[in-house]
Amino acid sequence: MAVTVSTCLKMKAEGKKISMITAYDYTTARLVDEAGIDTILVGDSLGNVMLGLGDTVSVTMEDMIHHCAAVARGTKNALVVCDMPFMSYQASVYDAVVNAGRLMKEGRANAVKLEGGVEVAEHIRAIVNAQIPVCAHIGLTPQGINALGGFKVQGKTADSARKLLEDAHAVEEACAFAVVLEAIPAALAARVSEELTIPTIGIGAGAGCDGQVLVNQDMLGMFHDFTPKFVRRFAEVGDIMREAYAEYDRCVKDGSFPAAEHTYAAPEGILESL
Ligand code: KIV
Repeated sequence: MAVTVSTCLKMKAEGKKISMITAYDYTTARLVDEAGIDTILVGDSLGNVMLGLGDTVSVTMEDMIHHCAAVARGTKNALVVCDMPFMSYQASVYDAVVNAGRLMKEGRANAVKLEGGVEVAEHIRAIVNAQIPVCAHIGLTPQGINALGGFKVQGKTADSARKLLEDAHAVEEACAFAVVLEAIPAALAARVSEELTIPTIGIGAGAGCDGQVLVNQDMLGMFHDFTPKFVRRFAEVGDIMREAYAEYDRCVKDGSFPAAEHTYAAPEGILESL
């Protein structure tokens, strides 16, 4: 059954946990979808793990549309949420609505995600009024890396914890259907999750959230540039890939690949007739 925004709200009401994983291409989306994951995030983390940019600041609308459309083609049941890239929504409410619309029309997303709380509440409301579901993202917001001064845990002082609670309520009031909580103390995330009626999706925010999200390449052990404390590697796919590439290299060089079963036979007499 296809997962919708209503499914997510119902899961929260029934105390059922929501799973979310990032994907950026057709093949991975199919595998994630077949595994029964509830929601796929086409994250702007593709700037890190697909494009090697080091952060998400330079990711463009065209990048997001290109990858989201591929993911949408590979997804049957999961809800596809697409990140709005840096500066596609911050400058004006108009930009926010127009660019969210492009991610839906050209990227075939089911919902969009954007970073920020109180300061983007008006943008969220306008996008929702355009019939586009919005997932908010507060706490550590990677697009703001230059303002935040690095990838730092948020909500550790009373002031910043209070601001986080305000942000959470602001995005709920603006009609976001869910909110990602990134890199905040577990007790604070649990408090936010109790206070909100919309689901919280945690990443580095503890088990008290209503769901969890991880970056695909992180949880599969494929990306080693940096590994945040909150990542659990559910497999070491990177090692398997490296071994397979090395084995292929050996087989090409020693002539054992391709073997007869990978080879097309010429019909009898063809070569002799040339
Ligand atoms: O871009 C992304 O993958 C994200 C997750 C880390 C939540 O925003």
